[in-house]
Amino acid sequence: MDSFNFLTFHRDEARHAFYRTRRTGDPFFDPRTKTWIVTDPSDCRQLIGSEKLQPAVYAEDYKRLSERFNIDFSALISAFSYIPLCHHGDRHARSRRMASEFLAARRNVVAEHIPELTARHLSAFKRAGKFEVMSDAIEPMISEYICLIAGIEVGSIHDCRHASLIFDRSSGLNKRQAMDTEIASLRKVIVSQLGEGATEDEVGLRLAYVILGMDPLKGMLGESLHKILESNGDRKLTEISFPRLPPETGVPFIERLVVIPFCFKSIAFNPGDRVRIFLQSFAAELSDLSRSNFFGAGAHTCLGRPLAIEIWNGVTSFLSEIPLRASVLSYAPRTSDYVFTCPDELVVEVRA
Ligand code: HEM
Repeated sequence: MDSFNFLTFHRDEARHAFYRTRRTGDPFFDPRTKTWIVTDPSDCRQLIGSEKLQPAVYAEDYKRLSERFNIDFSALISAFSYIPLCHHGDRHARSRRMASEFLAARRNVVAEHIPELTARHLSAFKRAGKFEVMSDAIEPMISEYICLIAGIEVGSIHDCRHASLIFDRSSGLNKRQAMDTEIASLRKVIVSQLGEGATEDEVGLRLAYVILGMDPLKGMLGESLHKILESNGDRKLTEISFPRLPPETGVPFIERLVVIPFCFKSIAFNPGDRVRIFLQSFAAELSDLSRSNFFGAGAHTCLGRPLAIEIWNGVTSFLSEIPLRASVLSYAPRTSDYVFTCPDELVVEVRA
């Protein structure tokens, strides 16, 4: 275990073999991340929905940072107040209900665009040649999906690079300030489109969906396509059996704070302890049922799960009709943050 750096483990190539072969006892405490690490899928399954654990309260952390360093983080603090993940108890129930009603109203609009969006953005898979899947296909496609989900003009979040990263605890102050600036301008874009009469809730919910959807979707599509193309060698796309659920996830782990003390596998977990539950471990179990846990479980289960799976199925049904081969020429994981698993580069060659 000492050989792994658990800050970067989620994007380390060696993780695949680790998940496939490991037989050692988890959880264990990692001094570098100061968290309990849980990588065994059956342990993860038992802990993800536990009521003895709660997501961290990010807004409180930012208020403290703001006071300590006299920096304005008001855009981030306000955004956190619309993200259900950042609340507990009754406040969470209210926030989740609001987010769920908003998404229900957008769901059909997004779903009816899936065939057209997929065909347009993935058209390079239909021609012989080389291309970079992330920048040429997945990133523009996901930006468009996010605009549709949030109900804002397509193209209006073009410069949005940091939105989903606001959950990264490893960021330095400069990066946190850059995120605050980005969230503030994103807010302005949304307000300018909705008009001055828009309520705080109408703006905040759209902002929350840009934050929650962007990197998880890019990571899921990029990592899953990489895995499938790599493991199918020289097969034509028509010959590949694509799984119904994505084989990899962009959300490699969730982090929790212990709120009620408990004992698990003879280890005492105390209030305030941090626990990092590696959802990406479910990829090694190779079943749709297990991989549905990529979307969390319990009170904070992902509200975007059905839509994310529909988007994945749109991609796979489009690719599975192309009688060409697509092989990976190069892949590099993103290293600019410590919360998502997502390719920075995925170059493929398409040929007969
Ligand atoms: C493949 C893509 C996605 C993955 C793997 C994913 C994964 C997750 C996970 C693991 C959680 C729980 C986090 C935790 O418990 O700490 C979560 C929460 C959430 N996700 Fe997703 N997500 C994805 C896409 C989306 C999309 C596209 C949306 C919106 C349309 C969305 C909306 C939400 C919301 C609202 C929550 C918070 C639920 C709550 O706290 O009650 N997700 N997601």
